[in-house]
Formats: sequence, C-alpha cells, structure tokens
Amino acid sequence: TAEVSSICCIGAGYVGGPTAAVMAYYNPHLTVTVVDRDQARIDRWNSENLPLYEPGLLQMLQSARDGSTEDMEHQQMATVSPQSERRRPNLLFSTDVAKNIGAADMILIAVNTPTKKRGLGAGRATDVTALEAVTKQIAIHAKAGAILVEKSTVPCRTADLIRETLKTYRPGVHFEVLSNPEFLSAGTAISDLVSPSRVLIGSQPTTEGLRAATALERVYSWVDPCKIMHTNTYSSELAKLVANAMLAQRISSINSISAICEKTGADIHEISNAIGADARIGSKYLKAGVGFGGSCFGKDIRSLAYLAETLGLPEVAEYWQQVLKINEWQGTRFARKVVKRLNGTLSGKKITVLGYAFKPGTDDTRESPALEGIRILLDDAPAEVAIFDPFCCPTVVREEVGRLCGSEVLKCNDGSVEVYENAYEACDRSHAIIIMTDCDEFRQSAKAGYEVSNLENRLDWPKIVYNLEKPRWVFDGRGIVDLDVMEKVGVRVEGIGRVGWGGL
Ligand code: NAD
Ligand code: UDX
Repeated sequence: TAEVSSICCIGAGYVGGPTAAVMAYYNPHLTVTVVDRDQARIDRWNSENLPLYEPGLLQMLQSARDGSTEDMEHQQMATVSPQSERRRPNLLFSTDVAKNIGAADMILIAVNTPTKKRGLGAGRATDVTALEAVTKQIAIHAKAGAILVEKSTVPCRTADLIRETLKTYRPGVHFEVLSNPEFLSAGTAISDLVSPSRVLIGSQPTTEGLRAATALERVYSWVDPCKIMHTNTYSSELAKLVANAMLAQRISSINSISAICEKTGADIHEISNAIGADARIGSKYLKAGVGFGGSCFGKDIRSLAYLAETLGLPEVAEYWQQVLKINEWQGTRFARKVVKRLNGTLSGKKITVLGYAFKPGTDDTRESPALEGIRILLDDAPAEVAIFDPFCCPTVVREEVGRLCGSEVLKCNDGSVEVYENAYEACDRSHAIIIMTDCDEFRQSAKAGYEVSNLENRLDWPKIVYNLEKPRWVFDGRGIVDLDVMEKVGVRVEGIGRVGWGGL
C-alpha cells in the first residue's frame, strides 16, 4: 500500500475544514494542511473565530491544530480518541496552495461545485471552474504518484476529466484519482464525520487503483471497516448525487401530499407516522414543511437532471426536475397563503419571520426557503418584515437580504426589512408570525400544555401571542406549534398538511 504521511485538502469550506480536522484528530502521525485561496477564510480558521459554526468543531481544532489535550466534549470522540498526552499539532491552514500541494502524498479536492450561472447549461449544469483550476495546479505542483481524492460533489465521470487534465499538463506521470464523496449534513458535521453511515471509496479496478483506495481507507482509521464501501469511480460519483436526490424526493413527495391533506381533513403528520412505520419506507425525511433548502439538494438534483438530459434521457431529467418544481411550489403556496389569509393585503402590517437559515442548528443560509418567502411578502409592501433566527448573526442576515433582494428593502434605507437579535422584539405588535425552521426554540411543549413553557431557551408563546395584533395569526411552516392549543386561546393557526383556521 502507498504510504501516506501528509495530506493537503484544497478548499477550507463547510466540507474541507471539518473533514480535515477529523482526519488530523484521529491520525496524529499524519500532517493535514488545508489550503484555500481565500486569505480571510484561512485567517479565521487559524483563530478562535471560525468561519462556520459546527458543534464539536472548535474542540477538535484545539486538539489537532493547537495540540491542546483538554477533554473533548464529544462523548464519542472521547472514547475513540487516541490522545491522552500533549499532542503534536498536525492540522494547518494556509493560503500557500502550490507549496502544500507539492508536499502532499494525498490531495483532497473539496472546492465548491455550484450550479452554472451563465452559458451552456446555465441554471442546471455543475460549474466545474474551481475544480478545473485546482486540477491544473495539482498537475503542475503535485509529487509524482500523489493520490488525488474528489471530496467535492461532481457530475458522473468527472474523474476522467481530472485524469485528462493531469495528462495534458503533466504527460508521462501517473496519478490515481479516487472518488470519496462526503455525506455530512450542516449542523451535525462533526458527529456525521466521526460516525458516518458509510464511507464510499470509488477507484479504478486496477492494482494501482485498489492500492490507492486502500491507502485512503487507512486514513479513515477511526471508522469501522465494515462501513467502508468500495465501488468503481463512476458509481461513487453518481451515488452522491442520487443520495441527495432521493432524500429531496421524499420531501417533495410528502409535501405534495400535504396539499391534499389541507383540502380533505387528513393530517400530514399522521400520514408520515403511518407510512414511516413501514420499515420498507422508513420514517426519516418525511417531515412536510415549506420545502428543502441548503447548498446541496437543489444543486445536486439540477446536476443529476442535467446529466440525464445530456445523456439523451429527457424523461429521466423531467422526473427529477419535478422534485424541484414541487419544492418551489410548496414554498410559494405557503407564502401566498399568508397574504391571502391577511385579506390579500400586507399594507400597514408587520409580519414576523421566525427562522432564516435553511434549517435549525446552523447559520448556513444558502438557498434558504425563508428568503424566497420574504421576497413574496415584500411584493405586497408590508409595513415591516421582521426576521429572527437564533443561529444567525443579524448583521450578516441584513447584509445578505440587502445583497439578494436589493439594499432598498432594508429598514435602514427606508425599506421594511429589519433583523432582530431578540424574538420578542421581532414578534411585538406583529400581525402574523411565520415559522420557517423547526428550531427547538420555536417549538411548543405540546403535551405539557399552553401555559407551560418550561424548557430553557424555548419561546414563551403566551407572551408572544399576547402581544400580537388581532386577529392573531401564526403560520406554522414546519408543524411545530400545537394547533389546537393555540386555537383555544384565540390564535388563528394555518399550518402545512392539515386543515387550517376556520375549517374546510
Ligand atoms: P464552500 O464554498 O464552503 O468551500 C469551498 C472552498 O473552496 C472555498 O473556501 C473557496 O475559497 C475554495 N476554493 C475555490 N476555488 C479554489 C481554488 N482555485 N484554490 C483554492 N481554494 C479554492 O463549499 P462546501 O460547502 O465546503 O462544498 C464543497 C464541496 O462539497 C461541494 O462540491 C459540495 O457540493 C460538497 N458537499 C457539501 C456539503 C455541505 O453540507 N456543505 C455536504 C456534502 C458535500
Ligand atoms: C444534505 C444531506 O442530508 C447530506 O447528506 C449531504 O451531504 C448534504 O445535503 P443538509 O443540506 O445539511 O444535508 O441538510 P438536511 O438536514 O438534509 O436538510 C435539507 C433540507 O431539507 C432542510 O431545508 C430541511 O429543513 C429539509 N427537510 C429535511 C425537510 O423539509 N423535511 C425533512 O423531513 C427533512
């Protein structure tokens, strides 16, 4: 097996940073260097003020990057951790891309692969510009025989494209290219990396290919070997797109049924429970809501559909496009319902959006359904759109809304959008509350009853409701408030997937 003692991870983002941290933490004998061209991002990785929030990440960095031996908070890490004495710092962050590529035995490619914004395949195809750029740098600077690993999510057969680029810029030198897609979710990145459902390694079915795959398997020293799956390179690349497409497809499926529930008296939560109890279906990813967001689902389905289209399979492309169509439709119909229920006008009204990130537990706002909802509300010229998210920094949200909707929409520029640090201020004298994420903070202790709001950090709903303008409206986009309890105290609730206020 090829010996690996130094790893270079290109891309210090949501995947590259946490993955490298976990690899370094569990392999004290390796040196792992994360490189990025973004100096500001690297500076933050080298500080206590990390560029992203993930539970357990800071402790892991303090150990691998700083050599600290303080007990890890993470239970699982503590039990598997090989460290008990002061350790050699073995995780570095740098902007010197070329030098670190040149020093590495294994190179992980974890750059962004967004949807193309213009030109051929715009809005659907994967933009491989960053991937192409780093492949060229690898070809020029890498040690002969270094192992290349695609961690980025890429279209099927991208490994061939990488091999071709390497041959062009470095003829006569052999490099193995592996596919090792990442399945972590935002908000649980560290625990997903520490205890993955599986680690997929795609390689060429040659002696060199299998040797490289074994070298990568050794890097995953903390993972139970039975969770490591070996496939050919194309299967591994495609499996990543399919995994995200299938998860998203379940959400669109249940959301499509939620609309039937609202018109019949069936309840989508009861349906999810009833069908999820069948082990063949399973209970996960069946929560109806305002639709999926995040940096991956949308772009990966678009990429899969485009792949099908370019392979001359328009029916397959259309099938997956439909998952996106339902997702968009679900978010739009929810926001329009708000306007309709408020007599078709938002003029002079304050509307509060609780939850701005694409899901709870993260400050990641990429492709968040909240933003699309806010756009629709703004079309009806409300007096104020108040935003609160316990995980997001108000300044960052304000800047982002200004950038994506136009800075004139912000209150500081005489517009109507204001972002609050405090939920009670955001909800004060509001005409309607719209819940966009299923944060525990927003959840009612349903069975405990309306008066009891005993859990720490939970919103005091009686206080919030009392200060709403009449008729008091709550639009629950994630099925987390107790509709019956709310209605008993005079709050009008419109949810998703069950008959709303006033009946059928
Ligand atoms: P990101 O945008 O957070 O990070 C990518 C980083 O790559 C950026 O810091 C950028 O500056 C850097 N970069 C781009 N071009 C570069 C270059 N030429 N040289 C050096 N650095 C360069 O992206 P991410 O969310 O970490 O995603 C990375 C990949 O992982 C994507 O393919 C994504 O689909 C996949 N993925 C993401 C997640 C997730 O939850 N975010 C989960 C699984 C897989
Ligand atoms: C997803 C995949 O889960 C992960 O494996 C992959 O590596 C990256 O993409 P992530 O985008 O972080 O991870 O979030 P995830 O928890 O999957 O949620 C995605 C979206 O679906 C969120 O907006 C969430 O609110 C929504 N969702 C999820 C539902 O609407 N209903 C559900 O039942 C589950």
